Amino acid sequence: MFIPNIFGTLMKITENPDTRYEFEIWFDYTKKAINLIREGTMVVVPNFASNNMETHLSILEIVSILPMHYALGSDISGYPGFIVEAAHSACLDWEQENESTEDTTKIRCIAVPTNFELKLTNDETTFQIEENIPMIGAKVNLLNNEYTQRVINLGINPEVENTLIIGNLVRDPEINILLRIEDLIKVHFGVFGFTGAGKSNFMSTLISKILENTKEPVKIILFDLMGEYTALLIDQLLKIPKAKIICLEEKTLPDIVFKCLNNEIKLTRQIAEIYQKTTLLPKMLKRRQNDFIKPLGLLIYHKKIKLWQELLDLTVDQAVQKGNPWGKRQKGSSHWNNINNIIGQVFGKYKDQDEKLTSDLAQKLLQNLEKTEKFNQYREDFSNLINVLKSVILTSNKDIKCGITTNEIISELNDKTSSSLYIINSHNPDILREFAHRLGNELYDNRRMTGEITPLCLFVFDEADEFIPQQPKGSYELSSSIAMTIARRGRKFGLGLGIATQRVRYLDTSIMAQPHTYFISKLPRQTDREVVAQAFGISEDIFKQTFKFKKGDWLLVSYDATGLDAIPIPIHTENADDRINKFLDEINKNK
Ligand SMILES: Nc1ncnc2c1ncn2[C@@H]1O[C@H](COP(=O)(O)OP(=O)(O)OP(=O)(O)O)[C@@H](O)[C@H]1O
Ligand SMILES: [Mg+2]
Repeated sequence: MFIPNIFGTLMKITENPDTRYEFEIWFDYTKKAINLIREGTMVVVPNFASNNMETHLSILEIVSILPMHYALGSDISGYPGFIVEAAHSACLDWEQENESTEDTTKIRCIAVPTNFELKLTNDETTFQIEENIPMIGAKVNLLNNEYTQRVINLGINPEVENTLIIGNLVRDPEINILLRIEDLIKVHFGVFGFTGAGKSNFMSTLISKILENTKEPVKIILFDLMGEYTALLIDQLLKIPKAKIICLEEKTLPDIVFKCLNNEIKLTRQIAEIYQKTTLLPKMLKRRQNDFIKPLGLLIYHKKIKLWQELLDLTVDQAVQKGNPWGKRQKGSSHWNNINNIIGQVFGKYKDQDEKLTSDLAQKLLQNLEKTEKFNQYREDFSNLINVLKSVILTSNKDIKCGITTNEIISELNDKTSSSLYIINSHNPDILREFAHRLGNELYDNRRMTGEITPLCLFVFDEADEFIPQQPKGSYELSSSIAMTIARRGRKFGLGLGIATQRVRYLDTSIMAQPHTYFISKLPRQTDREVVAQAFGISEDIFKQTFKFKKGDWLLVSYDATGLDAIPIPIHTENADDRINKFLDEINKNK
């Protein structure tokens, strides 16, 4: 159960508003010990619930480590000659191999409670909720790998529950960390780290792990503002039968690719090459750009790229809102009233109805509009709405083979037979935000009306500050409102939210309180750390370990999805580039 020959002493207990208590533990310094004791190490110390019959050992997690040499202390302000000399001789002490003979060298650690304990009786060892606080001065032992793995994943049974292995403990590749998929999605997650920390890379790893491991169908809708996920999830796009990229405008694709999707011309390697050249590749995979030609060509070949047919499933009411003849005029002004009268005459009977705007109906409404009494006087105000009606007529008559309507997307999202992935692309961020609002709202309303709660749907916003900023205006208001709806009320209908951003302090503050699971990398700015600390109750001591993080390292904290409630676990996750590399090797094997 314990790692032999390494003991520490519990030196101090202080109260801490974030973690309840904070403990200071000193270990005798040895080389072996300094290499073994890391952030994330689990230790046990007897607590006051122990008695003659049973031993209760509180389980604590080490969150910060500092080797300490008594001869130097923390004050180096004395006479430099002496100080440097003392440092040199202190350094010799660090060279001690396995036996600690010097009382001057210690490893000072800060630990936090996991709120669990190990109860040892004559014939049984059980994990349970901690019954009392640790005894100061008591001996501290390190849990071995088997027990550490059990503590970290406490209460999760991967045989029966829907779980995935998100990664391993940073200090030990052998200790796997489990996540409950349903809780991860339903009560939302956030990924926070400075630019280049690897958020998008991690999102690709997380999404592919969900799709590959889930026992229940999960639908993932990813709003891809930068257009980086076609390459980052190329494997999933091809492996999952219904996975697709949805382009919101024709402009998102090179013309020739669009023609090819629309069966106007035949797919050639040259067309796939053009598509590859316009697809953003992860930096590390750019040298393999030629190997992307085949899989990207396959996306075209299998018709996995669709063009959103916005106008084909508008209701009359939605078309009027979109055309917005009232403009920004003051409600109740005579100009506003006159426009409103005309709208009442022509569109009044469709108000709050779900009547679809077909090509014929658009034609009829257009004629009726032009016949109204004061129409000529207000023609300018109606120009936008007229354009919408004309576009509906035009699009309905155009034969688009690669189109997909909002209704079709919704029915795929409600299909219970398999998991799927939808990557939403647009050159225009405003359209992306509007689409998020429209799709999200329609799905939410649909689920609310039917009472349907499956399959689980995850809405992912990378660059979340571009969707959910503070004081949103214009299209930002739309994306913010749907993100809020999902965050606050989506759970009941099986809808969840995943957000990633480097600019935590620009996010709407109330959205920050929503995720129950979060992954934190380095946040160099104090202001960002403060926001996260406030939202999730993480103390500075716990943050310190993130400063040392390498790419792929994350501090994972979760209230529901992990075994330990709200206990930060430093994890290392796979590099998505490696997964894609392997996939490219595989798919290019037979050219
Ligand atoms: N786990 C990892 N292991 C190794 N390298 C990684 C890892 N994650 C990301 N990288 C590398 O770091 C670089 C930046 O990654 P990524 O684009 O995912 O960062 P980001 O946090 O999304 O950045 P931004 O804030 O600009 O969106 C990439 O070139 C990627 O290859
Ligand atoms: Mg990114």
